[in-house]
Amino acid sequence: MKRKALFITFVVLTATLTALTMQAQPRRQAPGKWEGLADTPQMGWNSWNRFQGNISEDIIKGIADAIVETGLRDAGYIYINIDDCWHGQRDADGFIQVDKNKFPSGMKALADYVHSKGLKLGIYSDAGSRTCAGFPGSLGHEYQDAIQYARWEIDYLKYDWCNANNVNPRGAYALMRDALRAAGRPILFSMCEWGTNQPWEWAANVGHSWRTTGDITNKFAGTPAQRGWGQTVLSIIDQNAPLRKYAGKGHWNDPDMLEVGNGMPENEDRAHFTMWCMMAAPLILGNDLRNMSQATRDILMNRDMIAVNQDTLGVQGLRYKDIDGLQIWFKPLAGGDWAFTILNTTEQDVNFNLNWQDFNLTDDEVSKLSTNFDTTVYRVFNLWTHKQEGKTSKANKVERKLVVKGHDVIAYRLTK
Ligand code: GLA
Repeated sequence: MKRKALFITFVVLTATLTALTMQAQPRRQAPGKWEGLADTPQMGWNSWNRFQGNISEDIIKGIADAIVETGLRDAGYIYINIDDCWHGQRDADGFIQVDKNKFPSGMKALADYVHSKGLKLGIYSDAGSRTCAGFPGSLGHEYQDAIQYARWEIDYLKYDWCNANNVNPRGAYALMRDALRAAGRPILFSMCEWGTNQPWEWAANVGHSWRTTGDITNKFAGTPAQRGWGQTVLSIIDQNAPLRKYAGKGHWNDPDMLEVGNGMPENEDRAHFTMWCMMAAPLILGNDLRNMSQATRDILMNRDMIAVNQDTLGVQGLRYKDIDGLQIWFKPLAGGDWAFTILNTTEQDVNFNLNWQDFNLTDDEVSKLSTNFDTTVYRVFNLWTHKQEGKTSKANKVERKLVVKGHDVIAYRLTK
């Protein structure tokens, strides 16, 4: 009898152990992009907007030093991304080499330097035969390039779309995604095909972000005739705003890199930065961090605003109304908060009488959350003065007589 009991116990124990071990086995990972790299929009710096092709090891190291010294790293900006023009030729086996004149110590040494500062290093390539500036593209070398980046310990790839006339966009971006995965090093994949093939419809499982527009310039507004080929802050907002339902944790609409500190006046820089935070855009700085005005620094380091961008609910803000050029924006945040912005797209200062009851809304498209100003009282925190400004009231009345400056914003965080 005792023996039988022992035997049964043994069988049960073995079965349980086997079941447990089977559960503990890592599941074979389905092929796909590296997960968990952009649960909130990526933050960092990129060389293109300020330096174009005039890049070097010294500049990149100087930027890495500055991003730490200024406190920007600790505010969340951790990627140092080298854009176009770092390339040398391919070696005899087809592996891409760095331009030794610009980067004499090589890419691995630069990655080591950047990593030693608690930062990550990004690089740039192109799905076509050549990059936009005419350097070797990855077409036909995707797996080799991914291996090379992994060897160099790169953490981020921006992948452009020049000279790709006969290339299938979905195939090309999926191919590089798979190559990055196969190379074995987690690398954030930033797609840059300018929205030409509506990547928001098919790339959620391909990249961590996709550009939604052509290239930004350091201009806030202007007609297409005035602005030429480039985009302005306002033209980009118009194209990016309707795409909010496609953005979310791990896959963001990318309205291009920041131009803060590159020549626009402070009000326009502030409005630009605010809107990129409201739209849950990747925050990739584009100015010379070694040499910034206090005003630029204050904008880029606004932690209250950064918190809106990095909010874990991961919902891109919604443009609720446009009242004669005053745009009313809401972004639902984790825990029932809302970010609220009035963007003045005109050059004139505009008087605005704020009655919260005008903004009882439900975000039907994405979060399904409602503002409920009739029943909910929120504390109002000014995201630029960093001061509490009273509360919303349930009464249907004008509560605030505001002056919204031309090409500027008023932004609040509303907390239940
Ligand atoms: C394209 C991209 C830019 C930049 C340049 C580099 O225009 O959209 O962001 O990378 O190429 O040549």
